[in-house]
Amino acid sequence: MLLIKTKDYQQMCERAAEIIIEKVNAAAPLKLGLATGGTPKGIYRKLIEDHRNNGTSYQRVTTFNLDEYVGLPPHHPNSYHFYMNHYLFSHIDIPEKQTHIPDGMASDLEAECSRYERLIDTEGGIDLQILGIGLNGHIGFNEPGTSFLSRTHVVQLDETTRRANKRYFSSFAEVPTHAITMGIATIMKSSEIILLVNGRKKAKVLRRLFEEEVNEQLPASVLKKHPHVTIIADEEALSSL
Ligand code: GLP
Repeated sequence: MLLIKTKDYQQMCERAAEIIIEKVNAAAPLKLGLATGGTPKGIYRKLIEDHRNNGTSYQRVTTFNLDEYVGLPPHHPNSYHFYMNHYLFSHIDIPEKQTHIPDGMASDLEAECSRYERLIDTEGGIDLQILGIGLNGHIGFNEPGTSFLSRTHVVQLDETTRRANKRYFSSFAEVPTHAITMGIATIMKSSEIILLVNGRKKAKVLRRLFEEEVNEQLPASVLKKHPHVTIIADEEALSSL
């Protein structure tokens, strides 16, 4: 794993955006894996800024989001469909049919998981996957204990994860209990991965990531087995090392 240390959140977002923009501008079409949560918002702002100022085009980019809550319709302000439109897609020139997010409203959730997994494969796999990390070490919504062999699946969210995400909802009870997420094996199939970690709150989990052996209780530890992972972390996140 390559570690890029940055001064702060802004710099972390700049570095990540630079890497993404370079790939968007490369000759080959790009399949980009995207994350939600607080962490990538600053990166999406940089991508929008660059699209406006430098005209970087997303016409040949296809995106796959990591996850989506079960039971929230796309127009719900806390759904990841809404998030992605709000923070990125509606501000760049990406064709809607090239943006993919699991459908948490599907009547057959298992079939939806298989469809999503197959779609990633038929599109030729993800070239670059952006990841954040949960306080308990989750990636996507793969909570501690998730098999490293898992593919896209329905998960029951940990109480800690629901509490961490409560800030976006008016009450804890409203935070969905389930989500669809790419599995660990789905994430590991990506050719390249960038893990973003910022803020003092993430210092403990980042230290665990560096210190612990690869184990299923710390889902992000699987990344140590991937040949092309870059961690971009700011000083606060690195403060416990
Ligand atoms: C959320 C998302 C993850 C995200 C993580 C961290 O629950 N499902 O994809 O990386 O938790 O969130 P944040 O960036 O807000 O700290």
